[in-house]
Amino acid sequence: MRNRLPKFFTQKQSQVILIILLVIVGSNLFFTPKKETGGPYGTKMVGSEACRSCHANIYDTHIQTAHYRDSRPAEEQYIKGSFAEGSNFFNYNQFMSVELRKEGDRFVQVGLVGGTEMQRAFFDIVIGSGRKGQTYLFWQGNNLFQLPVSYYTETNSWCNSPGFPNVFKFNRPIPLNCLECHATFAKSNGINGDKVEYDKGSIVFGIDCERCHGGGADHVSWHLEHKDDKIGRYIVNTAKMERQVRVDGCSLCHSGFRKAIQPPFSFQFGDTLAKFSTGSPISNKADTLDVHGNQYGLMAASKCYIKSATMDCSSCHNVHRNEYNEPKLYSARCMNCHGDKDAVHCSFKPTAGLVLEDNCIDCHMPVLSSNKIRLDVNGKQAQLPDRIRTHYISIYKNRSKS
Ligand code: HEC
Ligand code: HEC
Ligand code: HEC
Ligand code: HEC
Ligand code: HEC
Ligand code: HEC
Ligand code: HEC
Repeated sequence: MRNRLPKFFTQKQSQVILIILLVIVGSNLFFTPKKETGGPYGTKMVGSEACRSCHANIYDTHIQTAHYRDSRPAEEQYIKGSFAEGSNFFNYNQFMSVELRKEGDRFVQVGLVGGTEMQRAFFDIVIGSGRKGQTYLFWQGNNLFQLPVSYYTETNSWCNSPGFPNVFKFNRPIPLNCLECHATFAKSNGINGDKVEYDKGSIVFGIDCERCHGGGADHVSWHLEHKDDKIGRYIVNTAKMERQVRVDGCSLCHSGFRKAIQPPFSFQFGDTLAKFSTGSPISNKADTLDVHGNQYGLMAASKCYIKSATMDCSSCHNVHRNEYNEPKLYSARCMNCHGDKDAVHCSFKPTAGLVLEDNCIDCHMPVLSSNKIRLDVNGKQAQLPDRIRTHYISIYKNRSKS
């Protein structure tokens, strides 16, 4: 059998085949396909539109969340920075700058030295809802890179992409773990040097239902066929699992940068995170916070968490809703535990006019400056720190002087 196959080919054809094979093998020396996306994650995904017919309430509020809006194609309505003349520059120094331009219906960053164009790239993907900031990515073939200029919400201005040198660069590749935290799914076909060979069509933007509930195909088809079944089948809901598993789902993205043991996108809600990666320690040291803050590590170091068996992220967050900037609502969630007669109450004696219940959080979970991430912003001498809400729930005496 083995020897029969070549007989179908003439000698000349065999030589051509040999050359083709050599080319394929040869190119593999430079491009080594390596399994990069692991596990079952990404299969059986149907998209959140498919959840809408039965979970309309959740769907309608979910699409307003920072999660859902966290990554998107670079369309005009999603880019927060200004392209208006006068504010469409980021200057590194007297000679070097990046101009932000609209060209047709696309947007481009142009690197200039002494006013002469040196390099350019289009905005293709927006990362960040713009709650705090945005950064932008561009495609070159199947590789993704970060654009040199980002957007900082606090000053409503363009800024130097965090961690970039003080010159424009268009060659910083985007690793898969970046999208593991900032998208629902992305598949890689391997690594080429330091660049990921993305399967472009596989990318599912935003942090959508199935990022937290697993692929929904079986669930949807079951319930379409069994309209009377009131028990949700074939879908992950960590609410019913032990606490460590409940917080592990969120910790995948909310415990700072982690050291991977398994490839990106292997982990699914319901898994034990420690089997997939190791992370920052549980610590009350809020000064090490950066934009990729360790909410899990800080919460887990707090007395509330240690002394109560039930506290998890959902004690305070309803992830299906955008509840940003609602201190009263959050304070009511503190009172779910601290309002009971036999619970420990606030011992602070407020000055007249101050109602503790209006805002527990600015005293006990204040917004602090990060020592890690500093941003260069146009027109500012000093670098600005990023500001994060600490999740180390504690007594901050200097916060009570109001
Ligand atoms: C044809 C109707 C239907 C569709 C479509 C549907 N679901 Fe459900 N789902 C149900 C029903 C019925 C339940 C059980 C009652 C409930 O909890 O609302 C349920 C429950 C759930 C639960 C809770 C399960 C549990 O164990 O507590 C989750 C999570 C869920 N669905 C997610 C999704 C997601 C994500 C999608 C889209 C991919 C989706 N559903 C699409 C009908 C549907
Ligand atoms: C796949 C990664 C990922 C997972 C899993 C994830 N998050 Fe997030 N989360 C993010 C990113 C990224 C942002 C920043 C979104 C933005 O503003 O662009 C964010 C933002 C948030 C915010 C701030 C925005 C707001 O709505 O107030 C909260 C709160 C939050 N996440 C809570 C949670 C909780 C609770 C869980 C677990 C149930 C969770 N997240 C799971 C990545 C994730
Ligand atoms: C371990 C998960 C993780 C990784 C990896 C990660 N991020 Fe994030 N990123 C987050 C989370 C979570 C937030 C929101 C944190 C908060 O608000 O405290 C965030 C916030 C951001 C924001 C600000 C968005 C906003 O408005 O809040 C930008 C921009 C951003 N990340 C870009 C990137 C880029 C670019 C990469 C890859 C080079 C990356 N991140 C890698 C989890 C991650
Ligand atoms: C960031 C993660 C995340 C995303 C995104 C998300 N969910 Fe959930 N979902 C959860 C968690 C965590 C719970 C359990 C909450 C708890 O502990 O009570 C939950 C619970 C549910 C439930 C059970 C009933 C309830 O209200 O608690 C349903 C149904 C559900 N989700 C559907 C959806 C649908 C549909 C979407 C998209 C439109 C979605 N979820 C998006 C994390 C998420
Ligand atoms: C799941 C229940 C639960 C929730 C929700 C909760 N706590 Fe607690 N908290 C506790 C418990 C239990 C303790 C420990 C009380 C004791 O000393 O025995 C505690 C302790 C504290 C302490 C004392 C900390 C210290 O270091 O001495 C403060 C302050 C506090 N909580 C504030 C808050 C605030 C503010 C919120 C809302 C943002 C909140 N808690 C939400 C359960 C909770
Ligand atoms: C005791 C209540 C409480 C718990 C528990 C809690 N959070 Fe928060 N979280 C808050 C409050 C309050 C805010 C501020 C909301 C605002 O500014 O509107 C917040 C904000 C956030 C933000 C935005 C941070 C920023 O700097 O803007 C993220 C991300 C977040 N929480 C994630 C989580 C995750 C993940 C968990 C579980 C590991 C968690 N939270 C547990 C109360 C809590
Ligand atoms: C204006 C700031 C401020 C506000 C608002 C505030 N607290 Fe406090 N809280 C403090 C200070 C300061 C202390 C420590 C008082 C002392 O022992 O001197 C404290 C103490 C506590 C303690 C520890 C009590 C003990 O005996 O160990 C808890 C629990 C607590 N607060 C919960 C809350 C909750 C829940 C809210 C919202 C309803 C709240 N606090 C609102 C400043 C505040």
